[in-house]
Amino acid sequence: MVKHSRIAILTGGGDCPGLNAAIRAVTKKAILEYGLEVIGIEDGYEGVVHGHNRRLQYDDVSGIITLGGTILGTSNIANPYRYNTIGGDEPEFKDISQQAIININSLRIDCLVCVGGDGTLSIASRLFKDGVPIVGIPKTIDNDVRGTDITIGFDSAVSIATEAIDRAHTTAQSHHRIMIVEVMGRNAGWIALYSGIAGGGDVILIPEIPYEPDVIADKVRERNKRGKRFTIVVVAEGAMPKSGDIVVKRVVKDGTNPVRLGGVGFALASQLEEITGIEARAIVIGHLQRGGAPTPFDRILATRLGTRAVDMIRREKYGYMVGVKDGLLTEVPLEVVIEGPKKIPLNDPLIQSARSLGTCFGD
Ligand code: F6P
Repeated sequence: MVKHSRIAILTGGGDCPGLNAAIRAVTKKAILEYGLEVIGIEDGYEGVVHGHNRRLQYDDVSGIITLGGTILGTSNIANPYRYNTIGGDEPEFKDISQQAIININSLRIDCLVCVGGDGTLSIASRLFKDGVPIVGIPKTIDNDVRGTDITIGFDSAVSIATEAIDRAHTTAQSHHRIMIVEVMGRNAGWIALYSGIAGGGDVILIPEIPYEPDVIADKVRERNKRGKRFTIVVVAEGAMPKSGDIVVKRVVKDGTNPVRLGGVGFALASQLEEITGIEARAIVIGHLQRGGAPTPFDRILATRLGTRAVDMIRREKYGYMVGVKDGLLTEVPLEVVIEGPKKIPLNDPLIQSARSLGTCFGD
């Protein structure tokens, strides 16, 4: 068999800005530098299961670096190892990975590039162990993939969340209110920490540090005493009180990760209003954090990761993901992602910096 003649690429999990920049980087480099044929698999592992794919030519990826979303589509539900074969309210899960692998083999590819978060990359790791040559590229607005300091999409989400916090600031000031901005991130507080600091949040609540409403109320009162008659609280959707639970918005029965978070901001707004007697409002920016054009940083990151992934294919460095460590690209075994989400260490220098400026973490 002639090696290195054809590769395939898929984007899996929740979408994020920068996916198209990654597809473009992989495809252009594969075509221009190595003369490879590139197959785009549609809708993540859903397209693997159903054999939905199409050839990607140079022109298909030209001009897409600025585009949000993914031209290939994605799914944050499909998992060949636990696939819902019935659908609807009463799912029936089956392991159809053997069929998925037959479908992949029928494409006669040298390597499958999986662009995804921990869910997609964990499945990729299993597929690799089952014989599929795979190279991974980490993406997710949550920035919670182990083995890399940063993921594609995180910077864009932080930028969108920061703009929302800036806007919340001016209206909070005018009305002398507590404004709570709830951001995404699942069980990790990266978006909240970064956007909270960039937006000058007075209180930042992250899943890694359970909060006490009374401590936040004290911070609001202390600010009022100093003549600051408003408070900005940035809360991660996965944040939870010391005595209480995480707020679940819905359960997607056939999902790889069925729990969808959301709503902690509203609960906290009523609590703070009750304790302080000061009007409070909550804003949930939700999927806006995943939409629209990627920031220049994400476009560059996606280009760096995408081009390195093609080099890894050239070297047959399969079963690895390209990541970033201290600003430099690294190649890490895919299996590191199975260890679960990357949370913020409690001694993270950014937490220390924020605390030294008087930012309250609710503890
Ligand atoms: O993982 C990305 C993410 O946007 C999380 O921050 C959020 O909790 C989740 O996906 C939302 O999922 P869905 O798009 O299924 O509502």
